Amino acid sequence: MALRIASPTGAVLVVLVAACDGPQSALDVAGDGATRIADLFWGMAAGAAVIWIGVVGLAVYATRVRPGEHSGRTAKLLLIGGGVVFPTIVLTGLLSYGLLLIPELREPSDGRLIVSVTGEQWWWRVRYETADGRTVELANELRLPVGEAVEVRLESRDVIHAFWVPSLAGKIDMVPGRVTRLSLKPTRTGEFRGACAEYCGESHALMAFPVAVMEPAAFAAWLEDQHALAAPPSTPETERGARLFMAMGCGSCHAVRGTAAAGTIGPDLTHIGGRASLGAGILVNDVDAFARWIAETDHVKPGVRMPAFGMLAESDLRALGQYLESLQ
Ligand code: CUA
Repeated sequence: MALRIASPTGAVLVVLVAACDGPQSALDVAGDGATRIADLFWGMAAGAAVIWIGVVGLAVYATRVRPGEHSGRTAKLLLIGGGVVFPTIVLTGLLSYGLLLIPELREPSDGRLIVSVTGEQWWWRVRYETADGRTVELANELRLPVGEAVEVRLESRDVIHAFWVPSLAGKIDMVPGRVTRLSLKPTRTGEFRGACAEYCGESHALMAFPVAVMEPAAFAAWLEDQHALAAPPSTPETERGARLFMAMGCGSCHAVRGTAAAGTIGPDLTHIGGRASLGAGILVNDVDAFARWIAETDHVKPGVRMPAFGMLAESDLRALGQYLESLQ
């Protein structure tokens, strides 16, 4: 049913309210950092409203309530009171409130779980490191346990990217040659969306990642599964896909742990079939999407470094897709 909106103000309100929730909204909070930022936003909005009402009130008073000339003393009071004292008090209050929040936002986590995320053009290399010293490399997806503070270490290999999961915390730049840190402490389970928040090249807008906040037990089971080697192909079709994968040289850029494929240039594919999306948050994860990605890589993601394999027959593309899909 089409929605009829009576006035431009109504249209603006609908847009504003629609932007307040969803998996990528800084006002639909699901983490400690985002809660503080949302509080700051509402505090600033309230302060701005007070200034706006004060200024409009003065304008109405001067033009409608008491139009005409004012005495020199009243004019001076209005100018100094409304133009200097009033905004200075409100803005000083807002600035102090904002500055006091900064130490809380930079609080270090307890370091039991460290997730290193490296920005690449245009995807995310993700490495989990647990307290027992084990590490595992994944890509383009983040899963976190609810209620636990996780230290996220951010780096970049090429240009400046910015890591932002609006529902969980503020954004922070990923600068080549430096490690920046962010503490994420999710407060409820759910599916969220992160994005690159710094223009980094032609596929900047095609660089997203799903974020799942899970119960701690489910998270631990998932992380344990990620350490496992790839499942061997179990059907004639996936076997053919696995052979094609090696024959086409995919393994020189991608790793599939447990096979001869040990490339490190592209994303690790050991468990790619179990991820929520393909191509860094841009395609659904199914056989058709795999086939499309492999055949039309540069159409799906302009400027991508992976060459397109459009010369492959449809049946070969599907066999590769079946194999990759089977890597759960
Ligand atoms: Cu990476 Cu924008």
